[in-house]
Amino acid sequence: MTRYLVGSISELTPGSKKIIQAGGRSVGVYNLGGELYAIRNLCPHQSAGLCEGITSSFVTSTGPGEFCFEHEGEIARCPWHFWEFNIKTGQMMVDPKVRTKTYDVEVERFDVSVDEQQVFVHM
Ligand code: FES
Repeated sequence: MTRYLVGSISELTPGSKKIIQAGGRSVGVYNLGGELYAIRNLCPHQSAGLCEGITSSFVTSTGPGEFCFEHEGEIARCPWHFWEFNIKTGQMMVDPKVRTKTYDVEVERFDVSVDEQQVFVHM
């Protein structure tokens, strides 16, 4: 398994994302409430840059005029046809058999004197 540098942890504040090139692939790295996740920036529908869409919630409804927002800030919505994927699992929200690849993310302190931490993705 090879690891690729994402950048400094200070670039990935909660709620933010960063798209990197790693091993010939485009990968989106997300900070969801302090936890880091990485998914392939490739929509399984028609190969759009999945991570280039908005990060949102999954909206459900039990009836007219009633809405519930689930997985707040944990959904990657494809910019082309709006398929939605759970960033934590890579699974499509309405059909979990469809998924985009997920990757492990590691945070490493490289210079204790400045208390700086680097983020790596494993592929
Ligand atoms: S290419 Fe992503 S939803 Fe169609």
